[in-house]
Amino acid sequence: MGQEQWTAVDSYIADLFIPPDPALDAAQAASKAAGLPAISVSATQGKLLHLLARVQCARKILEIGTLGGYSTIWLARALPADGQLISLELDPKHAEVARGNLARAGVKNAEIRLGPAADSLRLLASEKSGPFDLIFIDADKQGYSEYLKLSLKLARRGTLIIADNVVRDGEVTDPKSPDESVQGIRRFNEVLAVEKRVTTTAIQTVGNKGYDGLAFILVIAD
Ligand code: SAH
Ligand code: DHB
Ligand code: MG
Repeated sequence: MGQEQWTAVDSYIADLFIPPDPALDAAQAASKAAGLPAISVSATQGKLLHLLARVQCARKILEIGTLGGYSTIWLARALPADGQLISLELDPKHAEVARGNLARAGVKNAEIRLGPAADSLRLLASEKSGPFDLIFIDADKQGYSEYLKLSLKLARRGTLIIADNVVRDGEVTDPKSPDESVQGIRRFNEVLAVEKRVTTTAIQTVGNKGYDGLAFILVIAD
């Protein structure tokens, strides 16, 4: 059992439950052609984000880390016509590719804000842009604990926060890992563990993106 089987099962699940989708395929193709790294969520994970946004009856979604907008499209499609998604991205090239992908996918209610996510989050808080119904954290892992702190200012009781890449091939259990991303995730998990305003779990995932994990964080107090 290993990567080959995880990929085969991911394809099996996607073939059953995720109809062919030209807009999502075009987004992945354009991202690849532009030289963006292949680190988006998988199709099955994208659909999970979509389903959870629907369970939340989300009208306002915040994403931290856009890349080519693949997860953005999945999330935006869960919104009602008058819903709103804001996605934060540092890299101007990623943002440009994502804007093209969103336009091609017919997504009209998603906006990409360029700049370091922490700055954008502080600005959103000062603009009183919250509360968001769902927040997806998926940018640089060193920033996760700060993104959590700032996300809580943009949340309400009932907001669902989802964080990607919290397992990292299992390396997250190694307190001595030299990987800054792993250390960032460990700090994030430690903050979550003592944060009284949330209740949290994390799930290990395998699939065509390898072995990683997602954290699910429900805001239970202001
Ligand atoms: N959510 C996307 C994948 C995001 S990959 C998807 O699943 O389709 C992580 C993204 O975070 C990259 O595009 C990277 O440029 C961006 N990023 C890295 N550091 C950042 C920062 N400080 N602020 C905002 N975005 C950042
Ligand atoms: C990386 C980032 C991600 O968001 C991801 O899902 C996988 C890998 C990375 O920076 O390596
Ligand atoms: Mg990720």
